[in-house]
Amino acid sequence: MTETHPDLERILIPPEAIEARVTELAAQISQDFHAAQRLYIVGILKGAFIFLADLTRRLSIPHIVDFMAVSSYGKSTDSGAVRILMDLREPIEGQHVLIVEDIVDTGHTLKYLYEILKGRKPASLRTCALVRKERENQGVPIDYLGFDIPDVWVVGYGLDYADLYRTLPYVAELKSDVYAK
Ligand code: PRP
Repeated sequence: MTETHPDLERILIPPEAIEARVTELAAQISQDFHAAQRLYIVGILKGAFIFLADLTRRLSIPHIVDFMAVSSYGKSTDSGAVRILMDLREPIEGQHVLIVEDIVDTGHTLKYLYEILKGRKPASLRTCALVRKERENQGVPIDYLGFDIPDVWVVGYGLDYADLYRTLPYVAELKSDVYAK
């Protein structure tokens, strides 16, 4: 039985379930790209860092890892504006590219990243996310999805509230009195 942090309402995805699903996703990705010379993995900071580390260490195909950092404005207003804070180090033209996100919420971030990276003419472009909230979103296809989760505030396994809780080994719902403070 996993011990729960006192700020949490309930655990949504326990560590064993995450590990099993990440292993499955890595096997699927390795199979799908077995003929590619290498896979160019784009991790989206900060939230994806733990998922990305576990996923990539289970891949059996050649791959390189790079990062982007973006900031989304007006989540509360749903404006969807996104700004690049840190870009990739190399051009991705002709590369097989996989975007790795921790969460798809409104979908604005993944939609923006998909369109920006598509414009750089990769050989292929796919998306991977650990969790997707069950709510209306921008409808960007997620080629490799870990879990659908309820539309609640989630933390752990890379996901944060005010930059805290990212290193919890599970995905959990945060108590509403924590973020209502
Ligand atoms: C989170 C998450 C995604 C984005 C998803 O990032 O990591 O990038 O929000 O939300 P959306 O689908 O509504 O666009 P956040 O801006 O919180 O930064 P972080 O990764 O540094 O926590």
